[in-house]
Amino acid sequence: MDKQFYSGEGRHVLVTGGAGYIGSHTVIELFESGYIPVILDNFSNSSPQVVDRINAVTGASIAYYVADVNDRKATAEVFDRYDFDSIIHFADPTKAEHELGWKATKSLDDMTADTWSWQSQNPAGY
Ligand SMILES: NC(=O)c1ccc[n+]([C@@H]2O[C@H](COP(=O)([O-])OP(=O)(O)OC[C@H]3O[C@@H](n4cnc5c(N)ncnc54)[C@H](O)[C@@H]3O)[C@@H](O)[C@H]2O)c1
Repeated sequence: MDKQFYSGEGRHVLVTGGAGYIGSHTVIELFESGYIPVILDNFSNSSPQVVDRINAVTGASIAYYVADVNDRKATAEVFDRYDFDSIIHFADPTKAEHELGWKATKSLDDMTADTWSWQSQNPAGY
């Protein structure tokens, strides 16, 4: 497992698939909101250049681990290293579905429609 370290105090969030389309934007948003994102990605549908771009945008050096999310040994190493506050899972969801029966119940379109509906009905916020 290739790795790059960034030690920092704060709330750590593991982002599997963090170099992907949605994951990379999420990593930037997390960093800019004061969290310490840690990427786990096997680059099967992305590349280390994405991490370079994330670092260029944030001015940070985001920790990333090149590993398959289904690799128990590799993921255990990452979990040994950090005390994660939360995990956002964008990498291959097939194992979660196969072994746990977990499957997304809403599409991005559903979620966007919900958000828009809520905002329209609550223009002043909470
Ligand atoms: N893009 C969309 O509009 C959209 C809409 C709804 C749901 N989703 C879901 O959100 C998730 C992320 O979507 P995306 O568009 O960012 O996809 P993406 O392919 O751009 O990103 C997925 C990332 O996960 C990595 N990855 C894949 N398998 C892996 C594995 N076994 N171990 C480690 N890393 C692995 C890839 O290298 C890639 O960087 C997917 O589950 C997708 O089905 C996406």
